[in-house]
Amino acid sequence: MKSILNKTAVYLAGGLLTLSCTTVPTNNTEVGLEQRGAQHQRQNIEQQIESLLAQMTLEEKISLTHANSKFSIASIERLGIHEMWMSDGPHGVRHEINRHNWGSAEWTDDHSTYLPNLTAVAASWNKEMAKLHGDVLGAEARHRDKDVILGPGVNLARLPLYGRNFEYMGEDPLLAGKLAAAEIKAIQANDVAATVKHYALNTQELNRIAVDAKPDERTLREIYLPAFEYAVKEGEVMAVMGAYNRYMGTNANQSKHLVKDILKGEWGFDGVLLTDWNVDINSFDAAINGLDIEMGTDVASYDDYFLAKPLQKLIVDGKVPMSVLDDKVRRILRIQLRMGMMDKHRLSGERNTIKHQQAARRIAQEGIVLLKNNNDVLPLDKNKIRNVLVMGPNADKLHAMGGGSSQVKALYEISPLQGLKAALGDNVNITVMRAKSSEISPIPGDFVMSRHWTGTPAWSVNRYKNKQMTEKWVDELSYPESAYQSPQGIDNETVVMQAQIKPLATGKHHFKLKLQGSAKLKLDGKSIINADSNNEKLFSETVNLTANQTYQVEVIYQGNQSFVIGWDAPGLEFTPENEYLAAAKQADAVIYFGGLSHDDDREAIDRTDMALPGSQDEIISKLLAANQNTVVFMIAGSAVEMPWAEQANAIVWGWYAGMEAGNAFADVLVGKTNPSGKMPITLPAKIADTPAIALNDYNEHDSYYKEGVFMGYRWFEAKNIQPLFAFGHGLSYTSFEYSDIKLSTDKLTSDEQLTVTCTITNTGKVAGAEVVQLYVQDSEASVARPIKELKGFAKVMLQPNQSETVTFSLNKRDLSFWDVNTGDWLAESGEFKVMLAAAADDIRLQQAFTYQAK
Ligand code: BGC
Repeated sequence: MKSILNKTAVYLAGGLLTLSCTTVPTNNTEVGLEQRGAQHQRQNIEQQIESLLAQMTLEEKISLTHANSKFSIASIERLGIHEMWMSDGPHGVRHEINRHNWGSAEWTDDHSTYLPNLTAVAASWNKEMAKLHGDVLGAEARHRDKDVILGPGVNLARLPLYGRNFEYMGEDPLLAGKLAAAEIKAIQANDVAATVKHYALNTQELNRIAVDAKPDERTLREIYLPAFEYAVKEGEVMAVMGAYNRYMGTNANQSKHLVKDILKGEWGFDGVLLTDWNVDINSFDAAINGLDIEMGTDVASYDDYFLAKPLQKLIVDGKVPMSVLDDKVRRILRIQLRMGMMDKHRLSGERNTIKHQQAARRIAQEGIVLLKNNNDVLPLDKNKIRNVLVMGPNADKLHAMGGGSSQVKALYEISPLQGLKAALGDNVNITVMRAKSSEISPIPGDFVMSRHWTGTPAWSVNRYKNKQMTEKWVDELSYPESAYQSPQGIDNETVVMQAQIKPLATGKHHFKLKLQGSAKLKLDGKSIINADSNNEKLFSETVNLTANQTYQVEVIYQGNQSFVIGWDAPGLEFTPENEYLAAAKQADAVIYFGGLSHDDDREAIDRTDMALPGSQDEIISKLLAANQNTVVFMIAGSAVEMPWAEQANAIVWGWYAGMEAGNAFADVLVGKTNPSGKMPITLPAKIADTPAIALNDYNEHDSYYKEGVFMGYRWFEAKNIQPLFAFGHGLSYTSFEYSDIKLSTDKLTSDEQLTVTCTITNTGKVAGAEVVQLYVQDSEASVARPIKELKGFAKVMLQPNQSETVTFSLNKRDLSFWDVNTGDWLAESGEFKVMLAAAADDIRLQQAFTYQAK
């Protein structure tokens, strides 16, 4: 075991028992975040770069432009240049893996603070929370001796099915960009480089390494790039990671337009562009278009990396000028010097401190969104309630180690159930029940032994265009559940799905197969079900299995688009429906912790539909009918359908809220914390309402972003589609009044700033925070523009009856669209409107003004 702590520290959940942690001394708390960044004090960096560069051989320069292990680039010890170590990000510092492969290094002291996911940060709409998040991440990265943290991610949630939405900051470029900039500054103030990712247009995981993103230029500029632009210009981010996907026919990492022209040209980015792990590039284009570091390429030797020997040869042969390589080396040295890698006064960080755990809880609390609260079902009054029924798959599920590269080996993780028990105390009786799915539900991940590389249980899927299985669709896919849905909606394909399972108990096991078409279900190579039906039908067979023995389950299917493999196994302790409904009727309150998990929200795989997995919808509907005081608490990183929403009195949305999730959820449920989160994504009623699906623009090959700039709430508003819950929606246990909108002028000219103020008053009985959203409408544009766009937000904390003035300022760019004729931003003369809103569908104040261009 390797160790960087003198003594290993252990914390038990919820602060029940806290032992002290020995950390390397740090000066982190002594100065404010803004001043602390030693980068700002480091002088003469450009001279040092030139002096180092002048002493370097060609081989030494080349050694810096590619990986020398899974997560580092080389050192040049004779010049005092150290190995530069990177780590995921973005929800905590990832556990240590082996130097040359993905296996765990089996350290025992590489736990870190597991922070709320970035969508939870976005839901806080609070730059202070982004700062707190970044500060913990930066300090912990330093303490683990990392130089570069691979986060935050700012790809936008265009498609609810996208597996990585949970790693990003919602659907709006301004919200994501402003929060990312705050997070980046805080990370970097710890002498660690942040990495904004994935540049650009990584909006689906389906065939992520080859799908070709082809948005029009205006859509690229107005929707998909601004968050990166904020990260560069406002956050002064040191590193940018390219995306896996292509952009206009070439890999995004080597796109001249994205990298050379925009990122490094127009935005003046002077840090490094590094690849995502194992991308499809070529040495020449990557080199001349501005890629600086290549990571994760799947080749036998690091010398075979595109930016290793092959680049060296291009330079020796005179095909790529030395100045191109020198520019890369300068950038790499620049970020190393900025973060103090050659400075003995570099900050040393701290990790797993109580302060960091409190930060995790605070961010989690601020990200929780109260979607609905009729009849004041919430907060629960623990002096009045005596019996609470807790149900749902997320009640005791832990999420830290799921999701892919953003997984975190948490020091501990409080489940929703643990948090609730601690908050309600001994006087409230909590009953926990697990509902059985109805006719058939996919085999639970807990029994599946086969793993996706992300570490989560997985079914491998091979798809063929013909019966003979000679023509494959794409490479092997992986499914989180034993439920198949053709990604392309293709009839008559042949699909082979397989995984290994391990039963918990010996005895009779009932296997089921539901399909339309024909299929064989094999167990260890032996056919146990031969199904053939023109209509959708359920087939089943009983076999004897032995506990803890591994069995191979395989289905070979030909048919029309979907099938489910189910399993009723002894050992799964389900409560029969009549029993849990009887318990629900008698309970003072029912809390159902449902939603998704990282079996669904995860890297490399998109969900196949927007429905809740298993029979959650059915169970929730029945619970809602049984008890009016049922709270549906959703834990998910992307939108799900909630067909029962109308029936529900109370719905809360909690995200993957980190190691203190359970405590933070309970804080809101019992009213210790007044919820103040707002949705950073639109929650559509159904997937067909979303642009990529409605416009048939989601497939493995090309993505045209056909909706143009009308993405997210911009789409719902333009098409007049009612979402289930709008972007920006979120309730509080108190109420707020908006009054006194004032504009500094009603006739704005050219480069003037417009100041907008209003008064917010807490008109309820408890303290609370309101997120005020400023939207702008261009009322008379020469091009089609969204009905309104978010151009500012502010969170104000108010005591009952307290009022505060909120001030926003708008500039010309806030009024502009990307003019494809001039290739520049254009604010057109004419009428605009400022709207101050509590949600995209809840405008409280508005006022028009005119803009006069020069
Ligand atoms: C992910 C990146 C991550 C990298 C290193 C890739 O699969 O796309 O976000 O930083 O792996 O783990």
